[in-house]
Amino acid sequence: MNAKFQARRRRPGFPSASSFSLLLLAIVPAVAATPDWPSRPAPRPDPALEARIEKLLAGMSLAQKVGQMTQPEIKSITPAEVTRYSIGSVLNGGGTWPGNNKQAGVGDWLALAKAYHQASLAAPGGIPLIWGTDAVHGHNNVLGATLFPHNIGLGASGDAALVEEIAAATAKAVRSTGIRWVFAPTIAVARDARWGRTYESFSENPALVARLGAAHVRGLQGQLKGDANVVATAKHFIGDGGTELGRDQGVNRSDRAELMAVHGQGYLAALDAGAQTVMASFNSWHEEAAGVGYGKLHGSHALLTGLLKERLGFDGLLVSDWNGIGQVQGCSNASCPQAIKAGIDMVMVPEDWRAFIANTIAEVERGEIPQARIDDAVRRILRVKLRAGLFDKAPGEGVWDGKAEALQARELARRAARQTLVLLKNNGGVLPLTRGKRILVVGKSADSLPNQAGGWTLTWQGTENRSSDFPAATTILAGLREFGELQFSETAEGVDVRRFDAVIAVIGETPYAEGHGDIPASGTLQHSSRYPEDLAVLKKVSGQGVPVVTVFLSGRTVYANDLINLSDAFVAAWLPGSEGGGVADLLFRGAPSYDFTARLPFAWPAAICPGKTRPLFALGYGLSYAGKPASVPRLPVQQSSGGCAAATEMGIFVKSNQPPYQLQVGSLDGSWPEAALGGDLNASLGYPSEAAPRVSVSTVQINTQQDARRVVWQGPARLFAGSAQKAALQTYPNGALVFDTVVEQAPSASVRLAMGCGAGCAGMLELGDVLRRLGVGKRSTVKVPLSCFAAAGAELSRIEQPFSLAADAPFTAAFANIRVQAGAALDADALKCSQLKLQR
Ligand code: BGC
Ligand code: BGC
Repeated sequence: MNAKFQARRRRPGFPSASSFSLLLLAIVPAVAATPDWPSRPAPRPDPALEARIEKLLAGMSLAQKVGQMTQPEIKSITPAEVTRYSIGSVLNGGGTWPGNNKQAGVGDWLALAKAYHQASLAAPGGIPLIWGTDAVHGHNNVLGATLFPHNIGLGASGDAALVEEIAAATAKAVRSTGIRWVFAPTIAVARDARWGRTYESFSENPALVARLGAAHVRGLQGQLKGDANVVATAKHFIGDGGTELGRDQGVNRSDRAELMAVHGQGYLAALDAGAQTVMASFNSWHEEAAGVGYGKLHGSHALLTGLLKERLGFDGLLVSDWNGIGQVQGCSNASCPQAIKAGIDMVMVPEDWRAFIANTIAEVERGEIPQARIDDAVRRILRVKLRAGLFDKAPGEGVWDGKAEALQARELARRAARQTLVLLKNNGGVLPLTRGKRILVVGKSADSLPNQAGGWTLTWQGTENRSSDFPAATTILAGLREFGELQFSETAEGVDVRRFDAVIAVIGETPYAEGHGDIPASGTLQHSSRYPEDLAVLKKVSGQGVPVVTVFLSGRTVYANDLINLSDAFVAAWLPGSEGGGVADLLFRGAPSYDFTARLPFAWPAAICPGKTRPLFALGYGLSYAGKPASVPRLPVQQSSGGCAAATEMGIFVKSNQPPYQLQVGSLDGSWPEAALGGDLNASLGYPSEAAPRVSVSTVQINTQQDARRVVWQGPARLFAGSAQKAALQTYPNGALVFDTVVEQAPSASVRLAMGCGAGCAGMLELGDVLRRLGVGKRSTVKVPLSCFAAAGAELSRIEQPFSLAADAPFTAAFANIRVQAGAALDADALKCSQLKLQR
């Protein structure tokens, strides 16, 4: 297979690697003995451009070079600091807007872009900064911008021309705000629907991903220097879609041939299409067959330099992902010689950029990072900036800059939505519906723009949005109303279904994005167990002699046999974006008449656990009005019994609340009411009230983005998680309560860690000494054997509160990954019960 790659890719007469990477080979220990990677010729160097790069580089100090390689987040850096530190790039993360104002308009975005740009020109050398943003389905951080279907839907369309058109419209929208770089396309090949980023993947089929990914790059970049072009990013290199159990940022265990044949195809195509930047992936790669672990991609010279830059001839810039360097063994967010030596050129270091700059300069001065590597990184950054015309045109000077109308492409988005819907079932030809009939619309997503848009919409996770945050958008309900009058009832409560000719149920998943959207190994693909309200509403309306048409919104394929049985027609509508009219267009007979053209980009599962059986509907399946009628028989319904993996872990708070648990705060004496912690990732909230807080809680990062809650005790209070459902913790052999923590202010007095088991039943331990010994500002994992709680009086067979931490002020610490883990009590670093004696 590799021979085939080479035969197809190698164009005679081209060098197989750029002179710069050859230079690099001489300096960095070569891992190049990887004969079975494919090879792809690097673009022919442009001598005039390279000469200009050398001239700029010659005038730069080490500090300026490191500044050039640094990409802070706009919340954490002012224009004045851009000048002072010679910063090369900024990004706005998902859910960051100029001035922290969600309502910010094109003018506000452009003004900030201008300010950063001018600040960069004011630094010595005057190299323009480049701003990057996640415009992954339209310019999705900007209020009122048209939202296109997420990639999963575009994969269903299979239409490269459509994808290119959408990318071009997105680029224009991005340019209107003065931004020149987009962190898209995601060319992940998702292989396990439990992955919360499945919808960012076009397909499980590498060839389709490659075709659409390349089209997306062409659409964004155009000629690169045009007024409606932006720099594209192929992400996340490499293997992000193939992690074990579909875990975000997890381990990919593909062998080398599969890594390339499945996860690498998109890169070959994107690079051929001219993608100027690549983003490294959070995952690690373990070459199982060879028994070699390469660790996190961010630290892998073999993959970032050996494969991407040398074998695949990538001469653009490689950017790290959000604090991705901090995940490399031995690194922190603020220091990672390994990542830079491995080949990262631009470092996304959203908050800790000051320390990063200081550390990196020192590391170069000490010889830990070769000067030549820094020069290579800066050359690549300058090359991209020059190619993309950053030196030629400032924000405000392009024809679209500041033009609000550039954010709108509603007709295109409506057509796109139409092209993404897959008809899975249409028994008895209930669809298309005839206009003028009595229609009942039900379901929680019929009138919900947040559900229609999904994650990466105005906020990172797509949560915290309301329909009023979408001033230029049409719900599916409003789209249906274009076809005649109808009645809407979200739950169908008290509605006499028999008065109608047809029911349209719009149901599905609610928004999520990376990490938070993963279905854990202890869960299943069964939709109804996560969203019981959808099954409930279908049960209300079906079986009454009135046909039921289900429109199902989701970011992945799920087990839905129960829902499909309750529906006469079933449409997989993915995450269609701002134009609900495009969904409605397909359901009615009328002029113009549209037909379903989309086909499944992922196989649709027949079982609640991935990969266990043949799919219910194969990859590429999809019905149409014009095609042969087909009837889907009644499907067997599997009862969900536990999760897909043997339970070795019970999550309590892992990135977010793990149902049935919910993190809460409360008083120690009942003097103020218990409160569930808010889900707003951006807010810092005081409890019981903002005015007189006893405890304040905000969201921070311990391991991965926003995975932790930081708790400031301002009085006596406790942090706890509970549920009326009793957990049988003795089923976790040698189990321990485990959590990650960073203590910011050590407790001066006692801190009680307890497990509660109902009235009069608890096991309480003293954790104060342990916490004090952890030291301030360090990340630690605390493991408390369940046997210690049992010895202190907890009945492990009926635990209602598996985690409760009571303290007095002052005490500040962050907590993440709170769980019960089998076997952890045997770990060498588990605490001993004798260290936890309550002193009272
Ligand atoms: C994500 C960013 C997001 C940010 C929001 C990060 O963890 O990776 O993309 O924008 O959180 O604060
Ligand atoms: C995501 C990237 C994104 C970046 C910046 C990360 O957490 O993995 O896809 O581009 O944040 O927002």
